[in-house]
Amino acid sequence: NIAPPCLLVILGAAGDLTRRKLMPALYAMHRAGHLPASFAILGTARAEMDDAAFRAAMRAACDTFGEAVTDTEWTSFAARLHYQTGNFNDVSAYQSLAARISGLDARHATDGNRMFFLATLPSLYAGIAAQLGAAGLVHSDPDGPFSRVLIEKPFGHDLASAQALNRALHDVFREEQIFRIDHYLAKETVQNILVLRFANALFEPLWNRQHIDHVQISATEHIGVGSRGGYYEESGVLRDMVQNHLLQLLALVAMEAPLSFAADRVRDRKVDVFRALRPLIGEDAYRDVVLGQYAASADGAMPGYHQEAGVASDSITPSYAALKVQVDNWRWQGVPFYLRTGKRLAQGCAEVVVQFRTIPFCAFGEEQACTRIAPNRLVLCIQPDESVRLEFAAKVPGPGMAVETARMHFGFHGRHPDAPPAYQRLLLDALHGEQLLFARADGVEMSWRFITPILEAYADHPGAEPYAYPAGSRGPVAADTLIARDGHAWQPLGGV
Ligand code: BG6
Repeated sequence: NIAPPCLLVILGAAGDLTRRKLMPALYAMHRAGHLPASFAILGTARAEMDDAAFRAAMRAACDTFGEAVTDTEWTSFAARLHYQTGNFNDVSAYQSLAARISGLDARHATDGNRMFFLATLPSLYAGIAAQLGAAGLVHSDPDGPFSRVLIEKPFGHDLASAQALNRALHDVFREEQIFRIDHYLAKETVQNILVLRFANALFEPLWNRQHIDHVQISATEHIGVGSRGGYYEESGVLRDMVQNHLLQLLALVAMEAPLSFAADRVRDRKVDVFRALRPLIGEDAYRDVVLGQYAASADGAMPGYHQEAGVASDSITPSYAALKVQVDNWRWQGVPFYLRTGKRLAQGCAEVVVQFRTIPFCAFGEEQACTRIAPNRLVLCIQPDESVRLEFAAKVPGPGMAVETARMHFGFHGRHPDAPPAYQRLLLDALHGEQLLFARADGVEMSWRFITPILEAYADHPGAEPYAYPAGSRGPVAADTLIARDGHAWQPLGGV
């Protein structure tokens, strides 16, 4: 399944995203033979550079952030690379871009197919889209050459701005031309949630309120905000992780079976889940959402959020969130979904724990009361241990009928160590016009519809400062209280 010819235009090609992620991914795709012969890259940014300087900068970037570069392979890859200086606010820059694009189309035989990757500040997306449209760079005929746009989150900072961005994009691009990246969707183990659910007869009959007690979804990080303090101050954990990655995970766990795995059929079912989320407004948000912010670690080795570069010393931006979420539909009524995510926690780990109901009756004698036999748990480990674990009761060997928890573990990684990393997968899918792993406009808006009232509740609430938690700890105690209120406890991450 060879990808079609294409010119990839990267706007913001002098920035971090291009150096750290895009270029190493493209080089790896080139090496692996995933790029078609007629494929070229045109980088553009304000920085003054010619093709040679751009190629040298990209080689250094690939060396630093990707696989080691070899001379022969670099030479063939570099022949695909071009650069043009341009200021995104300047109308004439788009005219020069158009001229350069048509020259490269002819030289690389791209058939006029193009993808624009906006590796810029998100605040520039709408303006750039409008300029690309005005310069006649976007083909809209579905039967002609394709023109696509790829953007990275954040897609707005609340419901209204997300809607405004979608309107601006839709002025120029049809939805089928828009590829909104959520890199969590490209993780193999995230995609595997759907395979586990819908390619097995075993789990789905149990996948409902009759058998599932509750679900825990965690995505914790050991790292802090690092050099991204400026961005994070504007964002905070609810916008940075919950609105997108965590709600996507929730949707994959909770969605109904799609009619097919065509992108829109799957995305229809995910939007149903977002639509069914019980709103958390005002008091409900204070009750069911816990926000935290990391303070320096007890030994002082890890700085607090306030000490990070680009962070205000009195900032109340949360770096941790735990939420109790209800999905109001037939399948999930009364089954809480507990979500948690945060920076500077003891462990970096992403996993989904599906906890089944306790057994209804225990025949193993007094000391083995039902409640003392641990419930079955299916644990989908997304990272770092890419695996599925099933926890079930087993007999302790020896006399008597004592019961203990046994763990059945399946690791993906040993089986397919060569699965392409997220960015390569996303670029390749975009090239093929496959939108399954990209967020759709209505899904983005529905998820903001859920998050925005929470943001508003906390913005308006005097004294709603996040709970402080020491860097390197398990997060604020209030998050344990949130789940303990319902008689549950967070499961140890990674099973330890
Ligand atoms: C990004 C967030 O979307 O996801 C970062 O902006 C976060 O703050 C990152 O660190 C986590 O991704 P991963 O793949 O490391 O779990």
